[in-house]
Amino acid sequence: MLQKYQHCLVSLIMAGGVVFCWLGYMYSTSLSPKSQRKQAMLMEPVRTDVLTVTPWLAPIVWEGTFDPQVIDEAFRSYNLTIATTVFAVGKYTRFLHALLESAEKHFMVGLNVQYYVFTDLPSHVPINMTLGVGRRLKVVKVPKFDRWQEISLRRMELIQTAIEEYIHQRANYIFCLDVDMIFHGRVGPEALGKLVAAIHPWFYWVPRSQYPYERRTISKAYIPQDHGDFYYQANIFGGAVEDVHRLTKTCREHLEMDKSAGVEAVWQEESHLNWYLWKNKPTKLLSPEYVWDDLRGQGAKEIKLVRFSSVIKNKAEVRENP
Ligand code: GAL
Ligand code: MN
Repeated sequence: MLQKYQHCLVSLIMAGGVVFCWLGYMYSTSLSPKSQRKQAMLMEPVRTDVLTVTPWLAPIVWEGTFDPQVIDEAFRSYNLTIATTVFAVGKYTRFLHALLESAEKHFMVGLNVQYYVFTDLPSHVPINMTLGVGRRLKVVKVPKFDRWQEISLRRMELIQTAIEEYIHQRANYIFCLDVDMIFHGRVGPEALGKLVAAIHPWFYWVPRSQYPYERRTISKAYIPQDHGDFYYQANIFGGAVEDVHRLTKTCREHLEMDKSAGVEAVWQEESHLNWYLWKNKPTKLLSPEYVWDDLRGQGAKEIKLVRFSSVIKNKAEVRENP
């Protein structure tokens, strides 16, 4: 009798074990809450406080408008390489380490990233940094420029030639970053698109008459009053290699035409970038979360997450000229 009872108990425990394992398996695969995504509800917009799509139907990326896990899963199989240019000339090399260190934590994590550091001081580039799998850094020597405006003017030309010489064979996308910046939060494949630009953190709520566009007709960057969409900051822009090539080539030509006419646009290459993006609409816009300014501080309620921001610097100390 006792033996029969023991048999029953063992069978029960074994059956229970099988059921338990099966439930566990189902839970960890198709039924897992991890792989269950929140349904997008057409009648329940995720952000109602900000514009999330432009009049030409390009998305504006804000926190809450995308699911990072869905995006990461969607991009995983493409095995993309993102070229990333950074200019660190003269005293600006001091910003490199913090920028790269933060990029390793937050920028295009899980994708192949090829950094191109343009500098006149290759020995100042931190080479002892450990980079993630699939991530590499190449130093490109450039001449020393005398004025910070000149660095800004030459940047388009140097990116254009780098794309032609080697980047076009090695990368699918390219992002061009200012060096005096830090990543604080995710900037991932949600930022990829054919032509991508970020909205300036100081001008997103003002009428376009107040945008600091170039207003002199003599400059190739001239944008008339009552024209233009947004004011973009040149601290981060990018896109498919071919599209960014066209952008840098056009801006470079316009910068050179201005130079021979003896004009310098009010915000150098940023003015020309704004002209280009007025004429050639970006296919994706990054909200100011992607190009914040530490000088603006925290507290803007529409900014749920600062991802990338300009560090506060002593301009007089790092610039070679006023
Ligand atoms: C500043 C920024 C400059 C330029 C300018 C345009 O805040 O530091 O790089 O973008 O705005 O007005
Ligand atoms: Mn800067």
